[in-house]
Formats: sequence, C-alpha cells, structure tokens
Amino acid sequence: MRIDVVSIFPEYLAALDLSLIGKARREKLLDLNVHDLRDYTHDRHRTVDDTPYGGGAGMVMKPEPWGAALARIATESPVSNALGDKPILIVPSPAGAVFDQEMAYELAGAQHLAFACGRYEGIDERVLEFASEAFDVRPVSIGDYVLNGGEVAVLAMVEAIGRLIPGVIGNPESLVEESHSDGLLEYPVYTKPGTWEGREVPEVLLSGNHGKIARFRRNKQLERTATRRPDLIVQLDASTLNRHDRDTLWHNGFAIVEGRIVPKDELG
Ligand code: ADE
Repeated sequence: MRIDVVSIFPEYLAALDLSLIGKARREKLLDLNVHDLRDYTHDRHRTVDDTPYGGGAGMVMKPEPWGAALARIATESPVSNALGDKPILIVPSPAGAVFDQEMAYELAGAQHLAFACGRYEGIDERVLEFASEAFDVRPVSIGDYVLNGGEVAVLAMVEAIGRLIPGVIGNPESLVEESHSDGLLEYPVYTKPGTWEGREVPEVLLSGNHGKIARFRRNKQLERTATRRPDLIVQLDASTLNRHDRDTLWHNGFAIVEGRIVPKDELG
C-alpha cells in the first residue's frame, strides 16, 4: 500500500518509523511518504495560512500550496484514474465521519491513501472540491473532541489501518480475537506468575478445559461490553447469541425482546 501524508509538521509523523509500522515500511509492505506543505509555497515566508473571508477567529489554510501538493500526489498515484478508480484522500477533521474498526478494514484494502493534515481553523473548502476530481475525498474524525491539527489523528489511523495489511502482524490470529473484531470488547488476559500481589489468575484458565475457557472469555467480553460500552451491546445481532450469551446479557442488564436487545431498565 502507498500512503502519502501532507503536513506543516512532518516531524510529527516520525513515530511511523517505529515498531510494527516502521518494520512494515522497511519490508516494503508500506510505502509511506511524508510531505512538508511548505515545500509547495513560493513566497519568502513559506506562508500556508491567511485570514478568513467573512471574518471570525483564527486563520485558514490557503488553497494554493494544498492544490500543488495534492496534484503532485495524484500524479504519482499507482491507482489508475483512467480505469475509474481513485486514490482515497482522508481529511482529518472533528467534522468528519467517525473512524472505527470497520472503516480501518475498508481502508486497509485500498491501494493508495493520502492524508491532508489541517491546522488552524481548517483548509479552504475549495481544496476539497478541487481534490475530488482526482481523489475519493473523505473527511474523517477520530472522535468527538478537538485536536490542534490532523497529525495525531493520522498517527492513530495509519497505525490502525497499517496493522491490518496482510503480513504486517506476525500472527493474524490475534486480529480475530481483539476488541471490536466481533462487535465486543476483548476479554481480559493474564500471564505468569499465577499469584501476584495476593491476586490469583482465574482458575478456569489453568484448567486446560478449552470449552470452559472459551465460555469464560466470551462471558467476560459480554460483561465488559455491557458495562463499558452498552451502545455496542444494543447493536449486536441477537440471532447470533446462544443461550449462554443471552443469560450473561440478562445478568448484565439486557433483555431480548422480539429479536432485539434492549436495556432492561427501558422495559415498561
Ligand atoms: N482534527 C482536529 N480534531 C480532530 C479529530 N477529532 N479527529 C480528526 N482530526 C481532527
């Protein structure tokens, strides 16, 4: 996969040289290019912002450097526009669609992703219109809070997407059992020593009984999700739940009524 990131703080993206993503780059599974937006300016001060039309607080990113940077990336794209296919341009923004594991999986299947890191009050809106000629443009948020710029959001998204590219994670089995892969949070994990600070590892995990261990873990997933993320529980497909799952959910505050999962406290 090819990834291009445009930012006025390219040093921010240095973290992508580390750990699994850094290794994936060295192994050429990921061709990641970071561009300094100021390299696409032509004035002495390398200006990237100006005051907003219509007034208001703060500064807005000027369109010209963005246009030049994105046109260059589109030209170098391995995705053929001629075949009706476009690279994806992700514009991190608190006003975007919320990034989640499903979106990470979808984006991990793309051949070319570009990220446009805005700063200040944002990028001149015409840049997004212009870019949509060459890119599939997607404003994306990493959550309902405001960052100072898109760089941290890009670090999070590239890590979440990059680890799903085949070959990046040594043991792909671990992707199956992690949080959000089946709509539930992951179960708690333990390692040696068996007793630590007076606390025991749950006995069932030492039993060697794989059926019991699987049931214990599934219960923990359901309990944890019910307590921490009840919004995920009501989105589950009730028809995928067996008798034990339904029982665990019942004991954690949820009932199944006419095939739908509902919090018991919402029942009349
Ligand atoms: N830029 C500023 N805040 C952001 C957020 N929550 N997600 C993505 N990009 C952002």
